[in-house]
Amino acid sequence: MPNAISGFSKLSKSEKIEWLLDNYFEDKKSARSLVTQYWNSDEKLQSLHDEFIENTITNYYLPLGIAPNFLINNKLYTVPMAIEESSVVAAASKAAKFWLERGGFKAEVISTEKIGQVHFNYDGDFEALYQFFETVKTKLISDCKGITKNMERRGGGIINIELKDKSTDLKDYYQLHATFETLDAMGANFINSCLEQFAKTFKGEAETKLEGNIDIIMCILSNYVPNCLVKAEVSCPIADLKSKDISDPKLFAEKFSQAINIAKVEPYRAVTHNKGAMNGIDAVILATGNDFRAVEAGVHAYAAKDGKYSSLTHCSIENDNFKFWIEIPLALGTVGGLTSLHPLVKFCMELLEKPTSRDLMQIVAVAGLAQNFGAVKSLTTTGIQQGHMKMHLMNILNQNQATKAEKATLVEHFKTNVVTHSAVEEALRDLRMTIDN
Ligand code: MEV
Repeated sequence: MPNAISGFSKLSKSEKIEWLLDNYFEDKKSARSLVTQYWNSDEKLQSLHDEFIENTITNYYLPLGIAPNFLINNKLYTVPMAIEESSVVAAASKAAKFWLERGGFKAEVISTEKIGQVHFNYDGDFEALYQFFETVKTKLISDCKGITKNMERRGGGIINIELKDKSTDLKDYYQLHATFETLDAMGANFINSCLEQFAKTFKGEAETKLEGNIDIIMCILSNYVPNCLVKAEVSCPIADLKSKDISDPKLFAEKFSQAINIAKVEPYRAVTHNKGAMNGIDAVILATGNDFRAVEAGVHAYAAKDGKYSSLTHCSIENDNFKFWIEIPLALGTVGGLTSLHPLVKFCMELLEKPTSRDLMQIVAVAGLAQNFGAVKSLTTTGIQQGHMKMHLMNILNQNQATKAEKATLVEHFKTNVVTHSAVEEALRDLRMTIDN
């Protein structure tokens, strides 16, 4: 076990790597060359990446894949997806093509309100606090002018501030609960800066105008944004669901709908069901430089909004018509943050034809719906492993250092054979033996 280290962040990148090698690796040479092998030879580009976070030692690659043929509100999109899971991009592309042939996806932004809170303790009378809040509310907003003027010029800003009495949940606990419109910015910095200014003004004014003590605990945006909502849907006559994998569309629609109903009532299934949607959502969020942890946290909270964790997607069968839709909260940005810094994020934004945050909300919701459709369609027809293992085949071949020629032969072989880890290893062994002999 190495000794604790102080001042690690002040070491140079090479010194940090040497410290790691000295303390954790037996074969220092190969560990060093692995880490440095992923450095970009363009020093400017490398230093850009180094500076995204602290203590960067190298780059961690994820594949950036492309799912074409997404028809959303009659506009065709080619969707970038950054993800490591083998079958996700293939499933998204397949679902996009399926719905392209059936009218495409419809998407709609329902609301775009973001939330931030100043959490504080107060030991006095609520009525006095409320009266005080009413008198300082305008000043809370006007003291933020320096922060809000650009956003206001573009049509956004602070929407409202409310005082909330939370003292029945927690002794002496109150909040300033504020709502914001941040347009094409995700808005975290904007909101947090406003909140910190609210706290300063609130506390400052309270010193002379309020009996009782105010203690600011913290100021932070909320990643739960139930009023920053987007909906995406697909629909078609049941008969039109007929396709290569769907021979009996009525039976398919019924089984599919029952699978959604199961995810609605059964949290164990709902989590996996929603994970399937998040495969698509996170991949686009990452490719477009947005904060997937914020989105994950907010979306799952929304899935539990009625007191029980449930499906994010819904299905109806009415008058021989099949409809499938998703409704999720998404606080996204298409300006600021990584979106203007990371060269591949800029590339992805251009690929999506420079979307506004509202456009991106719709694209991401559609990616989630498509992914969930693909997963539930496989689960209720062929089973998930067929497609999954076909895609996983390449990973198994790579783990076994298969050559290009071996890969080509075995991909062909497994078009008609069941892929399992051992079957692939056995086929590779057999192939190598035939070649050796
Ligand atoms: C795997 O990444 C995602 C699925 O488990 C989703 C689902 O079960 O619906 C296939």
